Amino acid sequence: MEDSIEVILQDAGRVFPLSTPHPILSACTGALLAGLYGVWSLFAMPGCRKIPWRLKVPYLPSSKDQTLNVMKLLEGRTGHLADLGSGDGRLVFAASSAGFQCTGFEINSILVAYARSKALWTGVPPNQATFVKKDFWKTDLSSYNNVTAFLAPGVMELLGEKLLKELPDDARVIACRFPFPNWPHQSSAGSSLNETFAYDISAVRSHLRNAPNTAA
Ligand SMILES: C[S@@+](CC[C@H](N)C(=O)[O-])C[C@H]1O[C@@H](n2cnc3c(N)ncnc32)[C@H](O)[C@@H]1O
Ligand SMILES: *[C@@H]1O[C@H](CO)[C@@H](O)[C@H](O)[C@H]1NC(C)=O
Ligand SMILES: *[C@@H]1O[C@H](CO)[C@@H](O)[C@H](O)[C@H]1NC(C)=O
Repeated sequence: MEDSIEVILQDAGRVFPLSTPHPILSACTGALLAGLYGVWSLFAMPGCRKIPWRLKVPYLPSSKDQTLNVMKLLEGRTGHLADLGSGDGRLVFAASSAGFQCTGFEINSILVAYARSKALWTGVPPNQATFVKKDFWKTDLSSYNNVTAFLAPGVMELLGEKLLKELPDDARVIACRFPFPNWPHQSSAGSSLNETFAYDISAVRSHLRNAPNTAA
């Protein structure tokens, strides 16, 4: 939010490996991306009416601190990771450089295309960062036990229900900025806007069993 456009510009500069990020080229790429995103919202959004209005989540890139806090809470874990709503792929790239094989689910085709081309330009192997243009509400997530989500406050409760139904007991879920209501977190990193929460599904399940009135 606070630095989204700077971050996009900065990232756009990194896509094209110039000796130093060229300010004019970065600005052009940033403007192009913003423009494409505007076009997408105008024309493609109506096509996404399948997603109920209350489940719509805006694109809001995570800040450097938020990304670092997510990585902190993933420390010690490896293997496959799913990022729900991967945006321009910044969390996926951070996780893949930390050794995860990461799949980003993203419904906005422009962001998917951008993330894929960024992977190509920066030479991230496809098995380490995969971007899938898919609605995660309609995706079975039961094969993942490492999940990250930076979404919106209004969808966290419903997402919590979905994850409790699908994820295995040993799953760890990282929520960036917006916590799951009624879930006890194992640990957190950062504060205020940068705060990131880690949940162990087995602990959440046993907590909700012992306090069934708060279970949704
Ligand atoms: C707050 S942004 C986070 C982007 C990225 N993870 C980051 O950290 O910068 C949320 C993203 O989720 C995507 N999204 C929202 N609903 C979705 C859905 N049902 N399926 C897949 N992606 C979705 C949005 O398009 C948006 O890019
Ligand atoms: C998720 O992380 C754990 C802990 O590092 C790892 O054992 C597991 O294999 C990972 N999950 C998958 C599906 O790779
Ligand atoms: C959160 O991150 C921003 C930059 O992304 C930083 O300026 C700010 O100090 C951080 N806030 C806290 C409370 O850590």
